[in-house]
Amino acid sequence: MTIKPFKLERFLGVHEFSTKYLLSSSDCESLSIGELLAFESDAAEKFHRHWLGYTEPMGDPELRTTIASIFSSINAEDVLVCSGAEEPIYLFIQTMLKAGDRVIVQSPCYQSVQSIPESLGCEVSLWQVHYVDGKPIFDLGELEQLMALQPKVLFLNTPHNPTGYHFTKEEQQAIISLARKYGTIILCDEVYRELEHDPAVQIPAIADVYEHGVSIGVLSKAYGLPGLRIGWLISKRKDILEEAASLRDYTTICNSAPSEFLATLTLRNRKKVLDRNLGIVNKNLDLLDIFFEKYEDLFTWYRPNAGPVSFVRMKFDQPDLAFAEEVVQKQQVLLLPGYVFDYPRFFRVGFGRKNMSQSLEQFELFVNQRWGR
Ligand SMILES: Cc1ncc(COP(=O)(O)O)c(C=O)c1O
Repeated sequence: MTIKPFKLERFLGVHEFSTKYLLSSSDCESLSIGELLAFESDAAEKFHRHWLGYTEPMGDPELRTTIASIFSSINAEDVLVCSGAEEPIYLFIQTMLKAGDRVIVQSPCYQSVQSIPESLGCEVSLWQVHYVDGKPIFDLGELEQLMALQPKVLFLNTPHNPTGYHFTKEEQQAIISLARKYGTIILCDEVYRELEHDPAVQIPAIADVYEHGVSIGVLSKAYGLPGLRIGWLISKRKDILEEAASLRDYTTICNSAPSEFLATLTLRNRKKVLDRNLGIVNKNLDLLDIFFEKYEDLFTWYRPNAGPVSFVRMKFDQPDLAFAEEVVQKQQVLLLPGYVFDYPRFFRVGFGRKNMSQSLEQFELFVNQRWGR
């Protein structure tokens, strides 16, 4: 298989662990194992006794039931627990698509959903974002035209990385109606679901409301626990679940036993974790509003209504990759350049981390020096 290098992961691989101030993280503030164990009085003792044998290939039964409880009409049998969100995306694409199949990808995207189908020889069409008055728009008329190509799969991501855009219920319904017409499977990357800044804007998971829907979720982002490497693929389509599970015998076989224990514990206490993370996000958003208003001659900021990321437009004339590298070199602040999403003249900011205010202060020092303010 020939596959393009994953630009985002390559870029982060170089800078993420050597740059002091991260201002572009896509996850929320993590917790320690001790903090998770403190959620329940007997958890530490149970964790010590937890058995380190192989685990069930579809995922621990209690964990599958707990994950199903996040959804409104999903049962434990509709859940495949995997390593992160990356593994279920990979398993789905490898088992459901082949050369010549047409797919549509909401773009910019987490590169897997574009590059893996391309590597298989699929016909990939992009449903591109447009910026109108500084706001990201995904045009449903354009999607309607693309859907006339009768794609096998439509890949969505909402709340969206990197733009921060989140579909409304009406938009979701319109998209489902289009997909239903052609029997198109919708794989929706919902790794930021449950991090709506106002709960009223939450929309149903695709697996709950569409018979050919596949929901991908994970503990890495809204929950801030990427080190657990626990994610899930949810679908009422038994064929999709079974084929993914079958390929999984060739990737990771089963999940890490300690991670399954900690994931189940986290999800039993998920409201506490999510409330904490939303508190951090909302505080950081207010700081970003103030910052970008002050520097509106240089940047266009969009305040999203969900998730911990947004895409900032650069109003000055410099390639985004060169700008991001200059900011790393001069001030030890990491931005994620639009280059990694094939979307130039933008950079992603992340606001799920507790120390974001310090990173923003450092970025402001850079801006003031660079533009002589
Ligand atoms: C939109 C999106 N989907 C999937 C993933 C992969 O998640 P994980 O690291 O949990 O495998 C990421 C990670 O950055 C992401 O941003």
